[in-house]
Amino acid sequence: MGKQLPASELKRDESLRVVDNRTGKEYTVPITHNSIPANFFKGIRAAPGPNDRPEDETERGLRVADRGFLNTAVIESRITYIDGDNGILRYRGYPIEQLAERSSFLEVSYLLIYGALPSPSQLSHFTSEVLLHGPIHSDAEGFFRSFRYDAHPMSMLTSAFAYLGSYYGEANPSLQGQDLFTKAAKGDPAALQNMDRQIFRLIGKATTLAAMAYRIRQGRDFVVPPTGMSYTESFLYQLDHLSPTDHLSESHSNKPHPVLAKALDILFILHADHEMNASSTTVLQTGSSLPDPFSAVAAGCASLYGPLHGGANEAVIRMLLSIGSPKNVPAFLEAVKKRQKVLSGFGHRVYKTSDPRSFIIRKVADEVFAVTGRDPLLDTAMALHDAALKDDYFVSRKLAPNVDFWSGLIYRAMGFPMDFFPVLFVVPRVVGWVAHWRQMMLSPSGVKIWRPRQLYLGPSTRDYVPLDERTDAFQVGVGMEPSVIEHSGMTKRRKLAEAAGKVTSKL
Ligand code: CMC
Repeated sequence: MGKQLPASELKRDESLRVVDNRTGKEYTVPITHNSIPANFFKGIRAAPGPNDRPEDETERGLRVADRGFLNTAVIESRITYIDGDNGILRYRGYPIEQLAERSSFLEVSYLLIYGALPSPSQLSHFTSEVLLHGPIHSDAEGFFRSFRYDAHPMSMLTSAFAYLGSYYGEANPSLQGQDLFTKAAKGDPAALQNMDRQIFRLIGKATTLAAMAYRIRQGRDFVVPPTGMSYTESFLYQLDHLSPTDHLSESHSNKPHPVLAKALDILFILHADHEMNASSTTVLQTGSSLPDPFSAVAAGCASLYGPLHGGANEAVIRMLLSIGSPKNVPAFLEAVKKRQKVLSGFGHRVYKTSDPRSFIIRKVADEVFAVTGRDPLLDTAMALHDAALKDDYFVSRKLAPNVDFWSGLIYRAMGFPMDFFPVLFVVPRVVGWVAHWRQMMLSPSGVKIWRPRQLYLGPSTRDYVPLDERTDAFQVGVGMEPSVIEHSGMTKRRKLAEAAGKVTSKL
């Protein structure tokens, strides 16, 4: 790695000196905010070496390879800061611990989107706009009813956000002009209002869509979002409401149980943003080609759904159920170390110590269990947690519990089905997504389409071979031809019908 210059030769200069050993040329690369511009390297060119292929484009400049974005800053942001080595998470400078203890989800949403804690009148304006935008066109009921009875709620929710966009032509740059939102950066107040209207809609309707995805599987009618409740109370109400006289809380006031509503509010604060996580990056990547924000949010949903991201809390419960009891923990950890299993809820791309959200969530779990009763899976979770934190395999790799290790247990105790857990992550994360999207649209230097590069390692140019000159062995190697798959009985019969009268052995 780097060679240290003697102190006498050191002169502090915010730049990097690079020598291209292919050409002997020296370059000075500027350093800003402890980063170097990847585009600078495009100017570092050389004649092709003996091992270079034309596709390496050696004479067109050096490329920066970063598979999986391990060390690439894709945007300048003022929203969220994570110090992964020291377990620090701050929204707009405020420590997550203070926000979880003292704030509320909609106040934190305001902070993330608009950059400062709101005054009482600002908070009241924002809250009323978000809640006002909760109700949805009654046609949406038909949309949800069109899914199969056992559809995964994330399939419904992901599609529902894209579907929602179809109602708002005025929010679609493809219809209204590509600078529909970006002209807000130049001070166009109508563009800014338009952008904020869509933000109110997206946050307001996130709970409505999520509740519809839930209720359709329960065989229950849909509920119009209530008034006079907080965001999370309204969400719980929309999920559970049966009739005007049903008793969801101890006070029989038709409001959800206060401990559960508060717990959900804190969980929503913790999940609202996490800087350039996979789904926020997806929203920005999608947003960079300037579609409507509903499409960008639908893309974020799809990204969040994966078990390496928002699907992890569901994976944790499945893992704990498969372990069964604390006595099976050592065998499970051995299987993880042999790479036969994954310890879901442990490890993080950024945190190399405990995720600060995991401590807050652990406290919330106790408060929820005091109301709902203790989940027997907690003993297995504790045993797994304690054993992993003492085991050199996990310690040496800096693998510690992340937010998902505990959140699934709380959601389970609150009675949510496992496949609904990612939905409970999406609803608050919509706030982070729109905060990043708005910041990008308001970028003074405009929006650049996110179009990364690749290192092309495929064949160089080759000539077309006529069909009758090719054999089955023309392409060899794993995954280089379509798989042979089993067909259902119906397809078999159809193919037999097509083949009737012809002799065929390949069905
Ligand atoms: N169990 C066992 N080994 C692990 C785990 C784990 N959960 N996570 C990482 N490792 C090992 C990995 O095999 C590698 O070992 P080696 O160096 O010997 O090959 C080493 O630790 C480094 O891991 P990595 O895969 O290079 O780390 P990454 O930054 O690419 O992946 C991660 C981060 C979160 C995808 C990964 O830790 C993981 O798969 N965790 C389990 C899934 C999970 O809990 N996800 C939720 C993340 S937090 C919420 C969110 O952001 O959505």
